[in-house]
Amino acid sequence: MSKALSAIQDILCCPHCAGSVKVTGSTVQCEAGHSFDIARQGYVNFLTDQTFIKNADTAEMVDARQKMHMRTFFQDLAHQISDICEGIFQNIPAPTVVEPGGGTGFYANAIVKRFDTASALSFDISSHAAKVCARQSERVASVVADVWQRWPISDNSADVVLSVFSPRNFIETERVMKPGSVLIVVTPEENHLVELRTKFNALGIERDKSEKIAKSLENFTNIHQSVLESTELLNGSAQCDSLLSGPNGHHVSAEDIQLFSQAEPITVTHCVNISVWKLG
Ligand SMILES: C[S@@+](CC[C@H](N)C(=O)[O-])C[C@H]1O[C@@H](n2cnc3c(N)ncnc32)[C@H](O)[C@@H]1O
Ligand SMILES: [Zn+2]
Repeated sequence: MSKALSAIQDILCCPHCAGSVKVTGSTVQCEAGHSFDIARQGYVNFLTDQTFIKNADTAEMVDARQKMHMRTFFQDLAHQISDICEGIFQNIPAPTVVEPGGGTGFYANAIVKRFDTASALSFDISSHAAKVCARQSERVASVVADVWQRWPISDNSADVVLSVFSPRNFIETERVMKPGSVLIVVTPEENHLVELRTKFNALGIERDKSEKIAKSLENFTNIHQSVLESTELLNGSAQCDSLLSGPNGHHVSAEDIQLFSQAEPITVTHCVNISVWKLG
């Protein structure tokens, strides 16, 4: 039994037929009889086609990201996201947060910790991430699902959608959002981790990301825009955690990890763009 899944069952829907579901004991079942086991760790896997899994975080990447989240910059980012929610939640007695590509549910968890009546659904294509996410809180439900497929979430469900460093499907985002609800998008700026990417010849940041996002959100009004930036001296293993946590994590070998972990400390820039969009 997962308390977190039960708490948000009203907004969950079946990935096969989009019907409503009930969480009973160790299964999630729809009216048409499609049934999904809840893993003993407390998450449910809603993937309907396992063959298309790609870009899912590996167990090593999930471990690295958990260590990275302990660092001041990411704690500050979680704090800022919760601050933004404070304004949004003012007149909402029991707000619902949806976090696509949520990984370990770190940011959803920060929000429910701050707001007693909030609950969240965090989903990711990685079952490794979903396992960790399911352990975070009884108010963060953890689901394995694909951002690029129809989300297993009913229309008009979310008060806040949270997209932090994750793949963005704005059509599904808009479908699950309530009228007047809010989307929070966090993307890396060009200089985010630039020293690391230069040192290890790693993947760059896509240019014009913010402009592309703005173009895709024509039914939304931009209500907040800020940049969070700081520098930090990182030892070899922290450098390694940062590289493994992002898209570079898919291209790093065991030998690379060994090598990077022994690297000399360097000062690294963290720089992200936070934009907030109201639907309508
Ligand atoms: C850079 S991580 C960010 C995770 C989390 N938002 C955070 O900031 O801690 C990107 C996440 O997107 C997930 N992901 C990649 N492709 C996905 C897809 N098609 N559907 C759902 N999640 C996906 C990865 O497994 C990974 O957890
Ligand atoms: Zn069904």
